[in-house]
Amino acid sequence: MDDKSKRLLDIKKEALLGGGQKRIDTQHKKGKLTARERVQFLLDEGTFQELGQLVTHRSSLFGLDKQKFLGDGVVTGYGKINDRLVYVFSQDFTVLGGSLAEAHAEKIVKVMDLAMRNGAPIIGLNDSGGARIQEGVVSLGGYADIFYKNTLASGVIPQLSAIMGPCAGGAVYSPALTDFIMMVENTSYMFVTGPNVVKTVTHEVVSSEDLGGASAHSMKSGVSQITAANEIEAFEKLRNLLSYIPQNCEEKAPSVPYKFGNEKREELKTIVPENANQPYDIHEVIQGIVDYDSFYEIHKDYAENIVVGFARLGGKSLGIIANQPAVLAGVLDIKSSTKAARFVRFCDAFNIPLLVLEDVPGFLPGTDQEWNAIITNGAKLLYAFCEATVPRITVITRKAYGGAYDVMNSKHIGADFNFAWPGAEIAVMGAKGAAEIIFRNEIKNATDPEAIWKQKEAEYAEEFAHPYRAAARGYVDDVILPEDTREKLIIAFESLENKVVSLPKKKHGNIPL
Ligand code: HXC
Repeated sequence: MDDKSKRLLDIKKEALLGGGQKRIDTQHKKGKLTARERVQFLLDEGTFQELGQLVTHRSSLFGLDKQKFLGDGVVTGYGKINDRLVYVFSQDFTVLGGSLAEAHAEKIVKVMDLAMRNGAPIIGLNDSGGARIQEGVVSLGGYADIFYKNTLASGVIPQLSAIMGPCAGGAVYSPALTDFIMMVENTSYMFVTGPNVVKTVTHEVVSSEDLGGASAHSMKSGVSQITAANEIEAFEKLRNLLSYIPQNCEEKAPSVPYKFGNEKREELKTIVPENANQPYDIHEVIQGIVDYDSFYEIHKDYAENIVVGFARLGGKSLGIIANQPAVLAGVLDIKSSTKAARFVRFCDAFNIPLLVLEDVPGFLPGTDQEWNAIITNGAKLLYAFCEATVPRITVITRKAYGGAYDVMNSKHIGADFNFAWPGAEIAVMGAKGAAEIIFRNEIKNATDPEAIWKQKEAEYAEEFAHPYRAAARGYVDDVILPEDTREKLIIAFESLENKVVSLPKKKHGNIPL
């Protein structure tokens, strides 16, 4: 080997070592992989092409001249996932705590630009102590450059963030601007201000895990949509997630080969109980409709009164939004409206058709909801559906009451088809409440008010607790048997494949934020 080749090999060896073997060992002891190991696990074997491996910072402040590491704390490049091109950056905590400064940020911006130009998803693996303190304002500038690119890329290419260690301070805002945040249990946390500042300012004593760990953000704040038990599971989940999503906003949603056969699903017949007040698990309906084992739930542990996620129907990608009667009777509230609105907008941006399964008694009443702006937040979901131009179908499995009937992808707001099961109830409100209001005087003046109330309730139910009035108006396109639903939907979605809808010309709308 000549001297030049030997020098190159030495340089590459140094680059691969990041912050050194000792720090790699520490990383492993914490149950974390290194930045490079993560990229290898995430991508198809042997496909990673690294860029900027030899980049270093240009600062000499606070002893940084003696702490130069090849790559400057972030591994960037491109490769393949299930044979599809993706761009990736992976922060290296062994180098100055994965802290971000000028050169580190430039490397990330470079792969973001490439991802945009070449129409491929970008995946960020975050593990960083935040802005590199020694480099001062250029670190802050670097973050802002990334935020700007995140925003420009939003809706153009899918952006996925995995949090695999610390992600603190303003650093949280890059993942927050991306489409999905995945967190790894026990080893990752995100917060704007950490436990020490919290203690000083609010006198609350809280651990990093309780403040911003995976459970906090998947159950309480909703910041994280997907949780992984460990890093290996995180990579599997990221790879699987991408299989439902196109490469960019110009492409159709992906599909896998599917041979149409007997699509009847007898198990759907018995899921919804006879008694309209009895709960059931909407997951069973979803599983009964979609291709076996294809449901990929998003935001599973947050606002569980609505279920959202990707699935395949006849091999084709689909976004599902389903009221969950097993939690709060499937009512719409602030959190469920926001959760569903965000999902609808993602699917619409990336040409993924929408299936709504509706069983909703209305919006949640109460001061808490009103004072925290259920009006504005409910309007987010309404707006998201109204604006969506992808194929959209609703199946009313049971209740479609009040404003929620309108909001949950009704035909009036642009859905292509609405179907209802025979037990569907479509009305302004439930029969008991309706009878109480419209027959108030008769009930009050009756010798047996309870009996009259019951009688009037039955009359109202007879009039409205079925789908046929809506069907007579054409608001419901067909009343279908549960067991035929899957077949009906495969055919209906197929008919919508070349759907074209154009919205009025505008700069952008003003979704109620
Ligand atoms: C420079 C940093 C650093 C940082 C960590 N390191 N964070 N160097 N800038 N932001 C260095 C440490 O000095 C240490 O170097 C090495 O990385 C590993 O850090 P440890 O503290 O030993 O690791 P650990 O115990 O695991 O703790 C991790 C940590 C802690 C919780 C992230 O390092 C920490 O609190 N860091 C500071 C976090 C912070 O305040 N960042 C700024 C946030 S404000 P040596 O050589 O000693 O091993 C921000 C603004 C962004 O990010 C604004 C954008 C708009």
